[in-house]
Amino acid sequence: MPNQLPASIQLTTAAAAGIEPEAPVIMGHGLQVRLWDGDLLLQMSAWGERGFPFSAFDMGFLKEPARMAEFTGWLGRDNRHLHLAAIEADRAVGRVSVNFRDPAGIYIWGVHVPPEYEGRGVCTRMLQALLGWLDTRDCGELVLSVNSFAHGARRIYERLGFAPVETRWQFDPALDADLRRLPPGQHGPVEGHVRFSLGRWEVRTFLMRRPAPGRK
Ligand SMILES: CC(C)(COP(=O)(O)OP(=O)(O)OC[C@H]1O[C@@H](n2cnc3c(N)ncnc32)[C@H](O)[C@@H]1OP(=O)(O)O)[C@@H](O)C(=O)NCCC(=O)NCCS
Repeated sequence: MPNQLPASIQLTTAAAAGIEPEAPVIMGHGLQVRLWDGDLLLQMSAWGERGFPFSAFDMGFLKEPARMAEFTGWLGRDNRHLHLAAIEADRAVGRVSVNFRDPAGIYIWGVHVPPEYEGRGVCTRMLQALLGWLDTRDCGELVLSVNSFAHGARRIYERLGFAPVETRWQFDPALDADLRRLPPGQHGPVEGHVRFSLGRWEVRTFLMRRPAPGRK
């Protein structure tokens, strides 16, 4: 059955950020978590990048005006997701998106903390704030997926109550592009986590679920 949006959640596009009164501003764990706006996108465009095998998360493409225009155009049309940034001392230090219309359930994705803010609990605190907010709105079970080479992310998700329920082979265009550029034998951190199938690279991912509070 398609996922139902809880009545208490207002889906708000980033285009409406700053003018939509119901747009969530989640406070807690030393962070403010709120919708992306133009200033936050500019900050994210200047974040440090990791490159392979995490290129899909890098936001530097937003430095190109044409790509920024294309991206904000998409955000303006998007009515499936909340795109949120974690803010600490007026600086964007992390981001996370929630898809309220995924067939698998309320789906958390795009969890990203740039290298310069890593290892200070930003991801943990950002997700604690988000999960707490979703729980108060009776969102029920939450879902996310993690690439099997992303050991650190998986540890965080497990500490927050997510457990792997399924393994999938997934096509990730950015990872596929990276792997095509790299000579064989230089797949380092993803060795054993990727396979070439039907003409493209796929990555092993774990689907993880976190039951609604009070449910097993
Ligand atoms: C994975 C990622 C989001 C983690 O972000 P982060 O902010 O560094 O994560 P945290 O600081 O919360 O946790 C990382 C470690 O720092 C520790 N830590 C350090 N200071 C901390 C603090 N003040 N509070 C809580 N934890 C802290 C955590 O315990 C954790 O330890 P562990 O690696 O032994 O489990 C980030 O590395 C990233 O963006 N990676 C690339 C993209 C990616 O893989 N995203 C996930 C896709 S599913």
